[in-house]
Amino acid sequence: MPGEEIFEKGRFEPPSEFKEKAIVKSESIYEEAERDLEGFWAKAADELHWFKKWDRVLERNHPFYRWFVGGKINASYNCLDRHLDTWRKNKAAIIWEGEPGDSKTYTYQQLHHEVSKFANVLKSLGVKKGDRVTIYLPMIPELPIAMLACARIGAIHSVVFGGFSAQALQDRINDAEAKVLITADGGYRRGKIVPLKKNSDEALENAPSIEHVVVVKRTGEDVPMKEGRDLWWHDLMKNASHVCEAEPMDSTDPLFILYTSGTTGKPKGVVHLTGGYIVGTYLTSKYVFDLKDEDIYWCTADIGWITGHSYIVYGPLANGATVVMYEGAPDYPQYDRFWEIVEKYGVTILYTAPTAIRAFIKWGEEWPKKHDLSSLRLLGTVGEPINPDVWLWYYRVIGNEKCPIVDTWWQTETGMILITPLPGISVLKPGSAYRPFPGIKAEVVDDDGNPVPRGQAGNLVIKSPWPAMLGTLYKDPERYKRQYWSQVEGAYFTGDGARIDEDGYFWLLGRIDDVINVSGHRLGTMEVESALVSHEAVAEAAVVGIPHEIKGQGIAAYVVLKEEFKPSDDLTKDLKMHVRKVIGPIATPDEIHYVDKLPKTRSGKIMRRIMRAIKTGKDIGDVSTLEEEAAIKEVREK
Ligand code: WT7
Repeated sequence: MPGEEIFEKGRFEPPSEFKEKAIVKSESIYEEAERDLEGFWAKAADELHWFKKWDRVLERNHPFYRWFVGGKINASYNCLDRHLDTWRKNKAAIIWEGEPGDSKTYTYQQLHHEVSKFANVLKSLGVKKGDRVTIYLPMIPELPIAMLACARIGAIHSVVFGGFSAQALQDRINDAEAKVLITADGGYRRGKIVPLKKNSDEALENAPSIEHVVVVKRTGEDVPMKEGRDLWWHDLMKNASHVCEAEPMDSTDPLFILYTSGTTGKPKGVVHLTGGYIVGTYLTSKYVFDLKDEDIYWCTADIGWITGHSYIVYGPLANGATVVMYEGAPDYPQYDRFWEIVEKYGVTILYTAPTAIRAFIKWGEEWPKKHDLSSLRLLGTVGEPINPDVWLWYYRVIGNEKCPIVDTWWQTETGMILITPLPGISVLKPGSAYRPFPGIKAEVVDDDGNPVPRGQAGNLVIKSPWPAMLGTLYKDPERYKRQYWSQVEGAYFTGDGARIDEDGYFWLLGRIDDVINVSGHRLGTMEVESALVSHEAVAEAAVVGIPHEIKGQGIAAYVVLKEEFKPSDDLTKDLKMHVRKVIGPIATPDEIHYVDKLPKTRSGKIMRRIMRAIKTGKDIGDVSTLEEEAAIKEVREK
């Protein structure tokens, strides 16, 4: 596991030019936030537009913390209208590049126009404040437009990643009881078409809450449209008015739901609340990315994940930044697509994932070397621990040894970056995410909640509330309490392992629960197991994460077949296809092993810890609670 030992591969100071111009220039910001947490965040909130100012900055109704209580605000207004009476009105908000090479730019004025129109479309379809709208789109401008249109009228969006299957989409629509689904005929990925409308039709075979489907024409291929239910985006937009006042929302009203994997088979609906979320993502975008008006900022994530919500849409647009958005794959048509985009638009800030960087390393330095990357001034990573050697490659080959790297740790639930360098002041150690953001109290504790000595590994917990924290889990406040607030008294439990070194630097060690991180995407082992067990041949399955050169973690599945089925290569292929179909391509197992028994405790719990240890060649420790020695032997031999 990367970061398991403390690697010290030198220290990297910010270049003096960067330092001089940085937004955050002084360490005193940490003391300022510590001295007066509420004052620190109130000052940030004051930079945004409120229809009515809050009465209280923070209500500590543990663990249901509420921010800017009594305040009225609209996230869409802050991302758009706020800039229209400034010179930013004609500034590029989104520079979009399609995978086939088409491109389009929206100024703040134009984006506001489109968002207002689509907000009126939603209203005409009967969508009201508090209603849920599911969005299943490729990385095209209509995706942020639809999100900001929902936010404008107070509808709660639930974006489902376009790589998810029909089944996964159906589960998420049904849990949210969404009224409208927004999708496209298809999307481009590596030159192929992802059949989003086809998946949507399949999902809607059993999704009774959906009244209408709005379909964006992207690929232009023939898709069936169901009379009365399905409507084309472009038809609806033709006659829509572009006047739509933003709804003054309570600061504590939900802005969106985003589903993420947990330790059970059922995804959790993480609920983010309007005021705190927009303040948190606004300030972290500004300070962590040192975001200035001249910047061309590119976050390569998909908006279907939290990274895209917070650091493509809400945070950067609330800052009035210029954002690059790219539809497709990094290796299409060639391995240098990212570098071509950086050169074409003069990208100054690049925020990407370690899994992508590992792929670039594999493809070779010649690809970035073909392009002029000298516009870059800051690099970022997110999603998983970055191996120090990968960090050094990124620093040298992409950053030309002049760009600080912000390794940002956070989660779907935290909504905003919590552990990170501040690029103008932090001295970096490759592989470490540096320190908690000002105002964030993070600690590493043992299983009883006591802080562990410096240098020792333990559980990462957060001991103070922060504005963009999740408000609850959708329709399941009990699970919210149990999942995040019951392990360590009074602290938010992250599910990550970490250690703090003698200089106070945080080193993230990966998940400590039954969650795997494939290419920076979170998957529950239980989800994959449930998918396998839903296949007619499978009696039982156990899934563990295994090290993978590019993806960080891959998936190994141990499968017990029903009596009448025999292992075969065809069955292995079939099982892999089945998991793809149930969850999506990211969940495809890398390895499938057939066993007669799974190692279990006497109480019948599958011992994933043991299986994981065996797979990664570690000491398996105490196995006295195991029911069957033979089962261990089997796993070891596969
Ligand atoms: C998990 C959260 C937050 C956006 C992307 C993933 C891992 C995230 C880092 C980092 C080490 C990281 C953690 C975390 N993670 N960033 N910089 N260093 N690990 O969001 O799907 O909610 O996953 O990603 O394990 O718990 P997510």
